Amino acid sequence: MGRNYQVLLVDPDVDHRAQLKQLLGSLATGVVGEASYGIEASRLAAELQPDVVLVHVEEPLAVALRTLEVVQRAAPRATPLVVSRLTDADVVQRVMLAGARGFVTLPTSADLLDRTLRTARDRHSESLDRALSSDPPDAACVAGTIITVFGPKGGVGKTTLATNLAIAVAGSTGARVALVDVDAYFGDVAITMGIEAEHTLPDLLDALAAGQQVDLGTYLVRHPSGLYVLPARHTGNVEATPRAEAIASLLRRLAGSFDFLIVDTPGTFGPQVAAALDESTTALLVTSADMASVKDARMSLTSLQRDGFDEDRLKLVVNHATNANSVTDADLARAVGYDIFWTFPHDKAVPNSTQRGEPLVLHQPRARMAVEVQALAAHLGGAAPARDEGAAFGWFRRRK
Ligand SMILES: Nc1ncnc2c1ncn2[C@@H]1O[C@H](COP(=O)(O)OP(=O)(O)OP(=O)(O)O)[C@@H](O)[C@H]1O
Ligand SMILES: [Mg+2]
Repeated sequence: MGRNYQVLLVDPDVDHRAQLKQLLGSLATGVVGEASYGIEASRLAAELQPDVVLVHVEEPLAVALRTLEVVQRAAPRATPLVVSRLTDADVVQRVMLAGARGFVTLPTSADLLDRTLRTARDRHSESLDRALSSDPPDAACVAGTIITVFGPKGGVGKTTLATNLAIAVAGSTGARVALVDVDAYFGDVAITMGIEAEHTLPDLLDALAAGQQVDLGTYLVRHPSGLYVLPARHTGNVEATPRAEAIASLLRRLAGSFDFLIVDTPGTFGPQVAAALDESTTALLVTSADMASVKDARMSLTSLQRDGFDEDRLKLVVNHATNANSVTDADLARAVGYDIFWTFPHDKAVPNSTQRGEPLVLHQPRARMAVEVQALAAHLGGAAPARDEGAAFGWFRRRK
C-alpha cells in the first residue's frame, strides 16, 4: 500500500461531498478537511497544507476555476486535482489551464481515483522539490476573492456596508483590497468615502474597450485606509450603461491583482449586477426590515435560485437602516424564505458618517454598526479573532 495522502476536499454540494468522502475513505487516503468554494477553501488550504486538494468542478465554472487557482496559492505544495461531471473539451482545457494536475470524470471508481491521485501526486512532488525548495508557502494567502453587495431596493445600506466592509477587510487582513463601484454613473462610494476621483470606472472601461494598455494604478484611488477605490463617474452626462460582459471581465482582471474585491452595486437588479454576482465568491443580499425591501429580497432570491445560483455563495444580510419596526430576525427569515447570515443594527452614527464622507469603521470604530461590520470582515476575510474580547474589535460571532 502506498503513502496515506492528506486530502482537502472542495465541493459546495454537501451531499456530493459526503459521497466523495466515502469513496476516498475506502482508499489509503485521509480527508483532513472539507470546504466549499472560495474563501473557505483557500483558508483551509493555507491552514492545513494538505498533500492534495481535490476540487469538484461544477457550474458556475468561473467560481470553481478561481477556487482552483486560489488554493494553489494558499497551499503551493499541494497537488490540485479535479473531479467533474462536465466533460466538454473546453471545460477540461480550462481546468488544466487553471493548474489542475489531473482530471477525473464522474462517476468514477475508487480504484481509478486512487491511481490518478497517486500518479498526479508523485509527478507533482518531483517538480515541487525543485521549484519550491527555497520558497516557503505563504500560510496567510487568501487571494482573488470577490464579495458583491447587492439588493434590489434603494437605500437599504449597500454602499454603507460595502465601503465599511472594504476598509475593515483591508485593516484586518493586511491584504490588497479594492472597492469597485459598479453603479457607473450614480454610485455613491466616492462621496461616502470623501474621495475626489480623477479617473472612474467608465474611464477604465473605455480605455480597455479601446484596446489601450492600462495601468490599473492610474485608475484606482488610494484611500488613506490603504484601500484602493474604483469610483463611479458623476458628471451629469449619463452615457450608455456599461455592458455586463465588460463589468465581468474588469472584475476578473482586478481579482488577478487584488486579494479581495468588494463590489458595490446599484439598487436595481440589471445585467451588470447579475454579471458581478456570477463572478463573486460571496454575494451579500442586503435588505432592510420594511416589507417593500423584504418583498424585493424574496423576489431576487427566488429568481437567483431558479437560475441555479449556488446557495453557498448567497448570504442574506439584514440592515436596520430605518428604525421603524419591531420585526424579529426569525420573522424576517420566514418572510424572505432564507436564513439570515448577518444582522446590522440601526445606528444613528451611520447617517452622520455618510454626510461627512467619513467611514464609520475608521472614524467611530466603537459605534455599534462599525463593530458589527468589523465582525463580518473578520469572518469573511479569515482573520483571527481579536485578543481583547471587550474591545471594539471583539470579533467573531459567527451567525451561521
Ligand atoms: N444601519 C444603519 N443605521 C442607520 N442608518 C443607516 C444604516 N445603514 C444605512 N443607513 C443610512 O441609510 C441611507 C442609505 O444608505 P446607503 O446609501 O448605504 O444605501 P444604498 O442601498 O447604497 O442605496 P442606493 O440603492 O441608493 O445606492 C444612508 O443615509 C445611510 O447613512
Ligand atoms: Mg448605494
